[in-house]
Amino acid sequence: MPTIPLRDRASWKALERHHAEIRDRHLRELFAEDPGRGERMTAEASGLYLDYSKNRVTGETMRLLTELARESEVEQRRDLMFRGEPINTSEHRAVLHVALRMPKDASLVVDGTDVVAEVHGVLDRMTDFARRVRSGQWKGHTGKPIKNIVNIGIGGSDLGPVMAYEALRHYGRHDLTFRFVSNVDSTDFVEATRDLFADETLFIVCSKTFGTLETLTNARSARDWVIGQLGTDEAIARHFVAVSTNAERVAEFGIDTANMFGFWDWVGGRYSMDSAIGLSTMVAIGPEHFHEMLAGFHEMDEHFRTAPLAENLPVLMGLLTVWYTDFFGAQTVGVMPYEQYLKRFPAYLQQLTMESNGKHVTRDGDPVDYDTGPVYWGEPGTNGQHSFYQLIHQGTRLIPVDLIGFGASLNPLRDHHDLLMANVFAQAQALAFGKTRQEVEDEGTPADVVPHRVMEGNRPTNVLLAERLTPHVLGALVALYEHSVFTQGTIWGVDSFDQWGVELGKVLAGRIAPELESDAEPELDHDSSTNALIRRYRGMKNR
Ligand code: F6P
Repeated sequence: MPTIPLRDRASWKALERHHAEIRDRHLRELFAEDPGRGERMTAEASGLYLDYSKNRVTGETMRLLTELARESEVEQRRDLMFRGEPINTSEHRAVLHVALRMPKDASLVVDGTDVVAEVHGVLDRMTDFARRVRSGQWKGHTGKPIKNIVNIGIGGSDLGPVMAYEALRHYGRHDLTFRFVSNVDSTDFVEATRDLFADETLFIVCSKTFGTLETLTNARSARDWVIGQLGTDEAIARHFVAVSTNAERVAEFGIDTANMFGFWDWVGGRYSMDSAIGLSTMVAIGPEHFHEMLAGFHEMDEHFRTAPLAENLPVLMGLLTVWYTDFFGAQTVGVMPYEQYLKRFPAYLQQLTMESNGKHVTRDGDPVDYDTGPVYWGEPGTNGQHSFYQLIHQGTRLIPVDLIGFGASLNPLRDHHDLLMANVFAQAQALAFGKTRQEVEDEGTPADVVPHRVMEGNRPTNVLLAERLTPHVLGALVALYEHSVFTQGTIWGVDSFDQWGVELGKVLAGRIAPELESDAEPELDHDSSTNALIRRYRGMKNR
């Protein structure tokens, strides 16, 4: 970790001075002065084209931001990650999701073990399993082939699988049904299984720890559901497989470890969709497409590892996020995919970004004196335009937005795709350039309405374009955001790979649950609000 605190770094101080000079400059002026910026301020890798010209930056800003990355040792830390050093310091672990997508002939030896060989050992078993399920060779307890696959998991053991399933639906098997159960709210399980029959349903129970309350609760209900319909616990072996790092707990639950697919403690939950946690994805799209997705991840990894900082897509996107978060005081980043198949992508990104960089101390444990991870959110376009875009255009907050679009639709219909993409370009244009008072007045707008119709503009966007949504592009897109998160976290000096903040709530829920279940009125020793809420709930429940 650089010994100089972030605010004391020369590049940070230079950025502060530079920000004071350019913060009021308008994108209209920047484009007028430099007509080539729309073509120059771009970067390309792994099938993704990034136009970052509509950001509130100049060439000098980018030079200083790149200097900040260098001074913050982004390259050194990136190399430590790729070497398998334990950069997740608070958990004393390596961070090696990049090894999950290394090609079979690569090798990465960590503590005497070739992790790439281990990864491919599991991928081969997944491939074999996926082929058996897809071909109908894997039979349920009564001899019927599997028609329904239900993934049970939460957080990284759910969001990646469900996002990838939706994103790659075009490549999926339409004769198989896929469902995803995550919430401990029983409605999630009941609705997901309401129209299914157990004899043709396979549960994939995904949990890195195999100790997560929601997942184990849902898995127990799934077990009851299967045994209830099939009449014997012998059915478990044909209707449950597990994905976990914890074989002992899998066995304790009653799933044969021969039906378990492993991964490793160096894969963070939110970085695990390309590990065995992606088993449902592989069953849905087939092993070949899954390997294409891994190749897309790997191509972006290689770009991140080798491209100069100033041309490095994840570095550029990470730096721009730091620029708006810490210099402009932006609190959020909007991510709007103009691709219906990416409808769960923002939800996926929320865990990736916010669980990673929602931190208030540095890796050394010192409180930070600057803002860290912004709130990520978003919806597919064009729906969001008819909902919350008003606030992005004319509200009082600065919200940088990533707009993601594709050259072709996977389901072309009349002129839909041109209309969709016209909206991507139009939104980026409207956000950047707005509409001046003069322009509004020249349209003959009544004087009292003029202020309402003026659009200040100067709202920054990144536009990301790819030819079409393929497994390869999805892999590259996810890796792009993973490494952008890495870049941000490294500059902020935080541990982007732990998530201690979610633990307290789990402990407290574990204390409160027996108080809700108990028949006797329990002695409550919480704060007065929690005590009152528990009493009221018990009253409602027992009515
Ligand atoms: O509570 C947060 C978390 O630990 C996430 O980081 C993780 O993805 C999720 O819970 C699920 O954990 P597991 O895969 O161990 O069930």
